[in-house]
Amino acid sequence: MVSPKIAPSMLSSDFANLAAEAKRMVDLGANWLHMDIMDGHFVPNLTIGAPVIESLRKHTNAYLDCHLMVTNPMDYVEQMGKAGASGFTFHIEVAQENWQELVRKIKSAGMRPGVALNPGTPVEQVYPLVEGATPVEMVLVMTVEPGFGGQMFMPNMMDKVQTLRQKYPTLDIEVDGGLGPSTIDAAAAAGANCIVAGSSVFGAPQPGDVITLLRESVEK
Ligand code: DX5
Ligand code: ZN
Repeated sequence: MVSPKIAPSMLSSDFANLAAEAKRMVDLGANWLHMDIMDGHFVPNLTIGAPVIESLRKHTNAYLDCHLMVTNPMDYVEQMGKAGASGFTFHIEVAQENWQELVRKIKSAGMRPGVALNPGTPVEQVYPLVEGATPVEMVLVMTVEPGFGGQMFMPNMMDKVQTLRQKYPTLDIEVDGGLGPSTIDAAAAAGANCIVAGSSVFGAPQPGDVITLLRESVEK
């Protein structure tokens, strides 16, 4: 069985108090901290980059699960590695040509490579990356169009998760977008084990209860 990884999306946190927000999530049981890096080009929103990861790294030992919603992921590998990112997940939509080199570089920069796919991208596109000589170690199935927190979960993406889980029983499969108490059971039943949750965690009166509930659903 693959172990559950609950990853609050720090996009929904108070960026002015990022170190304290990170500690709060870890203390409440988060396994990973999901960091959404957007370049205002691959997606119509602009967030943070390596300098913020570097600053945060000085305050936490937590696994920083970095999701790069950028057009040129290769340009950020070295700086993200130096900044202390733990995972580096790029989008297949912008890495059709050079994913092998990209994965190699991510590994040699000391990070765990992952590949993400947008709702409109067929799941078959990631098979070569999971089966390659230098494989990715996680597939992130987007369950909303990337760019913003607080959107509605797309249940029809669960077919992709199910297909991946059947093919790859031990692969880390992450879902991102609209996950919370009302959608977790569908994602867990399909076979997702890494759960990103932004607004449902940070918007809850008791975020720790939501983190616990998400974990228990994956463990069921
Ligand atoms: C969306 C980001 C998500 C987002 C999730 O592009 O990749 O990580 O923060 O937020 P919620 O959980 O609010 O949908
Ligand atoms: Zn994300």
